[in-house]
Amino acid sequence: MDNHDGQPGCINVQFLENTLKQNQGNVSYVAVTGVSNVTGIINPIYDIAELAHSYDTFIIVDGAQMVAHLPVKISGHKNQNRNIDAFVFSGHKAYAPASPGTVICRKDILSSIEPEEVGGGMVEHVFLDRYIVSEAFPAREEAGTPNIAGAIGIAAVIEVLDTIGMELIFTEESELIHYTLDNLKDIPDIQIYGVADTSICERSACISFNIKDMDHGLVAAILNDYFNIAVRNECFCAHPYVKEMIMDDLLAATTSINEEDFEDAFQLKSGMVRASFGIYNTEKDVDELVKAISDISEKREKYTSQYKPDNSGNYTHTSFKMNRQDRFSIKAYIDQYVNQ
Ligand SMILES: Cc1ncc(COP(=O)(O)O)c(C=O)c1O
Repeated sequence: MDNHDGQPGCINVQFLENTLKQNQGNVSYVAVTGVSNVTGIINPIYDIAELAHSYDTFIIVDGAQMVAHLPVKISGHKNQNRNIDAFVFSGHKAYAPASPGTVICRKDILSSIEPEEVGGGMVEHVFLDRYIVSEAFPAREEAGTPNIAGAIGIAAVIEVLDTIGMELIFTEESELIHYTLDNLKDIPDIQIYGVADTSICERSACISFNIKDMDHGLVAAILNDYFNIAVRNECFCAHPYVKEMIMDDLLAATTSINEEDFEDAFQLKSGMVRASFGIYNTEKDVDELVKAISDISEKREKYTSQYKPDNSGNYTHTSFKMNRQDRFSIKAYIDQYVNQ
């Protein structure tokens, strides 16, 4: 899953097809992210489903970064080969923190295998020496006491998103992403990861970048402390993908880097800064982000001199100290609202 015709970050569908052809009969399923949680690049999941099915394998899509950002059509395609066999997502990426992970899967696949998780609610009968698993869905797959409050939370979110309309959410977010890419690209010394031409690979949800020669942890700390902008940094649990793109970047900068030097350079720079988008974001937020990154890039010495890295790569400000009691004190809250 590397370059697509030399376009970093896109899935190389031809490479996937060649791999499936070479390993025909030995591949059980193709697993793919719907939207990259690093670049926000949208993968062609329905084309990949068709390809996977033509080689007699299943397709499973990780939709964690997808469901809150664009419409998803798991089944009901005219060409059934474009249907998705299994689709999974996490509610915490869709405005429902502490909600359960969700699996949407073809019933015949789940019925054909015994559930891996055992516990209350998924048994039809229990004997001294064995048990019979329920055939009823979803009980069969929901062993143990469910996360009821979390399930209600994610159901409420889905209802809200459906009411707004996923097409509208996608359209508005696309406009915001294009606006962000257009404005970020003019900042000197910024490296945006993944192909920037959205006519080749459309994007949603997030954009990752680095400011040249500045550590991602430092940039994230400055954005937080000075500009009140929360971003995530490092490798986002997608280390191989991040590494590949940073390698492309390093190779573009020098033609003579050897493997050992690359490992050293990668260790120094092993991560990115990620800005994520939600339904509440506007062009004004993007303007603030662009202004902040430009300022950091321009006055990097001033900012850098204010920080100290710790052993785990996090940066702390050398003089700014936040006293929790000044921000939030249970005693002060009680005095103000309860004991008044
Ligand atoms: C694409 C993608 N898949 C999976 C996960 C991990 O989900 P969970 O924390 O629910 O395991 C994340 C991030 O949280 C993600 O962005």
